[in-house]
Amino acid sequence: MQFFLDTANIDAIKKYASWGIIEGITTNPSLIAKEGVDVKTRILEIAKIVDGPISSEVIATDTEGMLREGRAMAAWHENVYVKVPMTSEGLKAVKVLSAEGIPTNVTLVFSASQAMMAARAGATLVSPFLGRLDDISEDGMALVADIIHIFRNYNIQTKVLAASIRHPLHVVQSMKVGADIATMPPEIFEKLVSHPLTDKGLATFLSDWEKVKKFQK
Ligand code: G3P
Repeated sequence: MQFFLDTANIDAIKKYASWGIIEGITTNPSLIAKEGVDVKTRILEIAKIVDGPISSEVIATDTEGMLREGRAMAAWHENVYVKVPMTSEGLKAVKVLSAEGIPTNVTLVFSASQAMMAARAGATLVSPFLGRLDDISEDGMALVADIIHIFRNYNIQTKVLAASIRHPLHVVQSMKVGADIATMPPEIFEKLVSHPLTDKGLATFLSDWEKVKKFQK
């Protein structure tokens, strides 16, 4: 499973990209709003740091508008994936963009039927929002598992990107059900690396080493 960061914050992207295992970035209008920046400028800044898919979301809600925005975004950089909301207008846009060879990420997916429709339209990625389902007492991870199962039934090439991740367990569960990608806020990514037994074990190694340091040649 690939790790993507779900942020438009450049400092966080620089920090975690330096670990060498971030393979893409997802943004959305809320994440761009948090940064208060021009979206094109920020996407191009990100592209200099991360060499992988960068999702940039359209604002238009009609197909023509989505196509206009999506084509413009795709021309910014070859790594831009046009993020399109899961609506009937969005499906029409994905069909056209995909025929033009522009990669797409269908977002705000909350059901298996939506995921299948996005796939049939030619989506490169589908993004089930598991945390937001958990937030309303629905089982978000069960949806991710269902989509993967269904895509396998039909040998569908659209990748499943587990989105709206709230904690490290969501990441582990995403791997267990076979998600292609998980996108997560930087604080979740940070949590994935640490373990108290690693810290404790390292502290013991270092203090024991102090005892034999004088014998080292
Ligand atoms: O980028 C889409 C998704 O990951 C949003 O997550 O936390 O706003 O539900 P969240």
